[in-house]
Amino acid sequence: MTGRHAAILAVAIVLMTTGTGCDAPAPAAATRAQAPASSENHAALEPRIKALEALLPSQSHMMADVGDHFANLWFAGTAGNWPLADFYLAETRSHLHWAVRRIPVRKDNKGRDINLVGILEAFENSQLKELKRTIDGKDAAGFERMYRESLTMCYSCHKAVDKPYLKPRIPAEPPSRIINFDPKADWPL
Ligand code: HEC
Repeated sequence: MTGRHAAILAVAIVLMTTGTGCDAPAPAAATRAQAPASSENHAALEPRIKALEALLPSQSHMMADVGDHFANLWFAGTAGNWPLADFYLAETRSHLHWAVRRIPVRKDNKGRDINLVGILEAFENSQLKELKRTIDGKDAAGFERMYRESLTMCYSCHKAVDKPYLKPRIPAEPPSRIINFDPKADWPL
């Protein structure tokens, strides 16, 4: 019996059992009626889920955000604006995680699996953790050193996924022109 036939039969049973003069719902029959109907809903949902998936931002879009947050971090840190630096480091980390959740494993040019989750975990537990420590300790020299070291980790992941042309560097100007990086800035300006 197909799902549709089962559903029609179940509805017919509900109509028969509830049409006998008693207005109370018939629980057993109602349950039977719902089962096939929900599996039909499932099939109807599948193309909609696929359509929604197609609307998700791409991994490169998420990485472009990482690029912006990490570049802003340089200007916040070198200006000694530690609360702002803390914010941009947290944004960098959360967007890195988002990007890796989007595509956790990529193939390199030889068809080998590259586990992005593992690479990010190593990055988190070393340079990014140290970078956080320099921000918490308002350590300007340490911040610059760890920032540069972090860039080599960014790049090593890009190389691992066969995108060696994506070479992060110390940014020349902040991507967010609307944010004032001066820690002593008043507001409104
Ligand atoms: C775990 C691996 C991994 C790490 C770590 C990583 N990236 Fe990426 N990054 C990628 C991948 C994969 C792409 C390409 C995505 C694509 O093309 O679909 C990418 C692309 C980029 C892009 C290009 C985005 C665009 O399309 O315009 C930038 C910018 C970038 N990354 C910056 C960074 C920075 C800055 C860091 C370090 C703070 C970093 N990435 C760390 C994997 C990584």
